[in-house]
Amino acid sequence: MSDLKALLTQIRDTFRTEVQSVTTSADAENLRVRFLGKKGELTGVLRGMGALSPEERPIVGQLANEVRAEMESAIDATLQQILTSEKEAKLKNQQIDVTLPGKSFPTGSRHPLYKAIDEICEVFLGLGYSIAEGPEVEYDYYNFEKLRIPKGHPARDTQDTFYISENILLRTQTSPVQVRVMENTKPPIKVVCPGKVYRSDALDSTHSPIFHQIEGLVVDKGVTMGDLVGSLQLFARKLFGENTKIRLRPHHFQFTEPSCEVDLTCWACGGKGCRVCKGEGWIEVLGAGMVHPGVLSGCGIDPDIYSGFAFGIGVERSAMGRYGIDDIRNLYENDVRFLRQFK
Ligand code: PHE
Repeated sequence: MSDLKALLTQIRDTFRTEVQSVTTSADAENLRVRFLGKKGELTGVLRGMGALSPEERPIVGQLANEVRAEMESAIDATLQQILTSEKEAKLKNQQIDVTLPGKSFPTGSRHPLYKAIDEICEVFLGLGYSIAEGPEVEYDYYNFEKLRIPKGHPARDTQDTFYISENILLRTQTSPVQVRVMENTKPPIKVVCPGKVYRSDALDSTHSPIFHQIEGLVVDKGVTMGDLVGSLQLFARKLFGENTKIRLRPHHFQFTEPSCEVDLTCWACGGKGCRVCKGEGWIEVLGAGMVHPGVLSGCGIDPDIYSGFAFGIGVERSAMGRYGIDDIRNLYENDVRFLRQFK
């Protein structure tokens, strides 16, 4: 019996020293297995108790129970301590610095050309116009013939384009959309038609083989040149500021009569003359006129009852003026350093 008691005390002492050096939860578990597990040291002693006499058994048993209780609570306490400090360490590592600047996610923005198209269309939508669209690959018939520009006519010279076949081409203007709308709609008509147009021009700081126009068309009874001037005046003020004036210069288009080119007072100098307007004080932005009676009747609209006006706005010109862009190529190269400025 005294052997067993000595063994128990020895196991307890070893345990007491070893528990001191436990630093991780894994150490603590190992210690539990080594001393209290099925094949553990204490279990070995308890097994040996079978050989004791009935008087000795409770004495050794009590000591064994005390040792076990001491070991269990020591391991539990140590484990608890370790878990707490491990958790603290983890929290410390994961500390969040709420004063750090946040991560920004790159987002795109609308292209300045399409922003300009939206802004221009918005003005006309406010005047009760609706939006119409037509194909970019167009029949010669709609792009030229129906607009009174027959094959071989000199008016085609300034609008050379890319031909798909003899009678199919990339449209040179948005004016064919007027024809398509007039063929399919009874007056009153009030539409704006934004879109891409093509001409075989070389690319330089003011020209591009692809550019954008917004065509406007109004057809109704009693529409006059005065209505055209009023609408364009409003467009100019809304987009370029209340002090913007417009100037009409006589011009010639095959499909309008009378025709004019329309200038706006320079957005950079307000009309005094500067580098942007090349000292003129005015910048040309659009062509316009009263729809030719021949175009109306060609689309099934009686020119004795109805009249109309049309205008074509150059989107690039307007966007460059509005945003102070001095080279048209910036609009097509899609350099993000350029585009970012229009967020
Ligand atoms: N389509 C003409 C051009 O591209 C502009 C225009 C449109 C003129 C409508 C008059 C009326 O030059």
